[in-house]
Amino acid sequence: MNKLIGLTRNFSNSTSLNAIKTVTVVGGGLMGSGIAQVAAQAGQNVNLIDLKPELLDTAQKSIQNNLHRVARKIHKDAPAKIEEYVKEASERIKVSTNLEDGTNADLIVEAIVEKLDVKQQLFNRLDQLCPEHTILASNTSSISINEIGAGIKRKNKFGGLHFFNPVPVMRLLEVIKSEQMSEETYQAMMEWGKSVGKTCITCKDTPGFVVNRLLGPYSAEALRMYERGDASKEDIDIGMKLGAGYPMGPLELSDYTGLDTNKFVLNVLYEKTGNPVFKSIPLLDKMVAEGKLGVKTGEGFYKYKK
Ligand code: CAA
Ligand code: NAD
Repeated sequence: MNKLIGLTRNFSNSTSLNAIKTVTVVGGGLMGSGIAQVAAQAGQNVNLIDLKPELLDTAQKSIQNNLHRVARKIHKDAPAKIEEYVKEASERIKVSTNLEDGTNADLIVEAIVEKLDVKQQLFNRLDQLCPEHTILASNTSSISINEIGAGIKRKNKFGGLHFFNPVPVMRLLEVIKSEQMSEETYQAMMEWGKSVGKTCITCKDTPGFVVNRLLGPYSAEALRMYERGDASKEDIDIGMKLGAGYPMGPLELSDYTGLDTNKFVLNVLYEKTGNPVFKSIPLLDKMVAEGKLGVKTGEGFYKYKK
């Protein structure tokens, strides 16, 4: 198993002993559904909020499938226990299209579209609707945490909780300290991260935090290498898998993350740092404009069955 990025599987099913018992996840897409899943596995009550009922249906199906994978590993030869595990964990997740159904929570994790103004509007609304004790956090990949929380009053109870895709498998959680975050909020976030089975690292509100700041140049250089025709996409990916021990090659990973997300992260890193390594890449721009976003649209560098 890959030692470079610590891929030993770690599925938590223990009940959290810290103060956070009820979690709301806003945004039930790729990341939000995974965050809801790991919180439910840890015995917490979860509200999962999205704009459209059909997106919540898709999220519930994906959570059920992934809970089965986890349960099969825990209760190998006991079908009844597998079903019981899946039932109990999924019953802890309540879904709704109404944000107000999720405001009475100890922690709210936002995993909606990567747009500053949309995130700001959501947090301003949550700040007004939630009880005083509720901690608010964003799962943004690249936007400044302080900018997202600029309009809220409870700045001491706000920060970043940056998960990695696929959330149930990747063991890391980056806890991002906002300028005015209290020590109590920081400790609560670290404790909560542990309770959902993650190893937490801490980072300032700096562009790309730790992981995306380092993955960005790697991904950009791989895209440019393919654009220049230095090697085929297959050989670039095989090169990094077999020559450097990565579980996926850089172009496969870009398809997996979403080319739109990849482009957005690189754009923000360029805007914030001015480092030319993050400058826009014509091939990436073209593929995003053509809707070739990777696994989620059925085509990116490779083709996928929907
Ligand atoms: N839920 C639960 N379990 C899952 C799962 C899911 N969604 N997806 C995979 N698994 C489990 C499988 O059951 C399997 O478990 P075991 O090894 O215990 O049998 C294991 O994970 C491996 O799965 P597969 O055999 O299906 O596939 P794989 O070996 O090719 O691994 C992968 C798939 C885990 C995605 C692996 O390729 C990988 O780690 N890729 C790199 C992912 C990565 O780098 N993510 C970070 C992206 S950057 C980011 O997220 C930040 C950002 O802001 C953009
Ligand atoms: P996604 O498109 O799969 O899901 C976003 C979901 O949010 C959609 O279901 C959408 O309907 C919903 N949504 C949008 N606006 C909403 C609103 N106002 N209220 C409620 N729901 C709303 O996106 P994703 O890949 O899950 O990314 C979500 C966030 O996580 C982004 O900020 C992204 O940058 C970050 N992130 C993504 C990755 C990744 O690999 N994709 C990794 C880490 C962090």
